[in-house]
Amino acid sequence: MATDSGTELHYMELLSDIASGEKRAGIHLAAWAGKTRNPKLKSCLSLVADRETSHYHIFKRRISELGYSWKENNAPDFEERLRVSSSDMPDVEKIRWGKAQQAQRQGPAIRERYEAAIADESVDPLTRSLLRWFADVEADSGSLLRLVYDGIETEAE
Ligand SMILES: [Fe+2]
Repeated sequence: MATDSGTELHYMELLSDIASGEKRAGIHLAAWAGKTRNPKLKSCLSLVADRETSHYHIFKRRISELGYSWKENNAPDFEERLRVSSSDMPDVEKIRWGKAQQAQRQGPAIRERYEAAIADESVDPLTRSLLRWFADVEADSGSLLRLVYDGIETEAE
């Protein structure tokens, strides 16, 4: 990804990957929210799905403010994730499936990458501030989901 000037910001790929990941997360969480009959899980999934979709738009906008255009990266596992989220599989199995997927993932997690960018003074201040806010919201979404997931897993035991 390069601007007309030919130079490229070293954190553009990160912003682009965040936008791609948030877009996909919004889609699959909304699909799951549409399927579950557990009202607590439904409202939590909808809340987080809305946040993810909104992050996608915000990061896409920031990319364009910086003079670039967002390009979606490809995620080979997304199709399967969406298939699982949209399926009639019980919620507890979807939760376990998601955890197993996460455990298999290799390479630096997106969180490590944005934490590094937050600490990187060569990233422009507005983007760092956006990333700090994003990190806080992601952490909050993670704990909201974990709480509901844990309840469902405990019930299933
Ligand atoms: Fe996210």
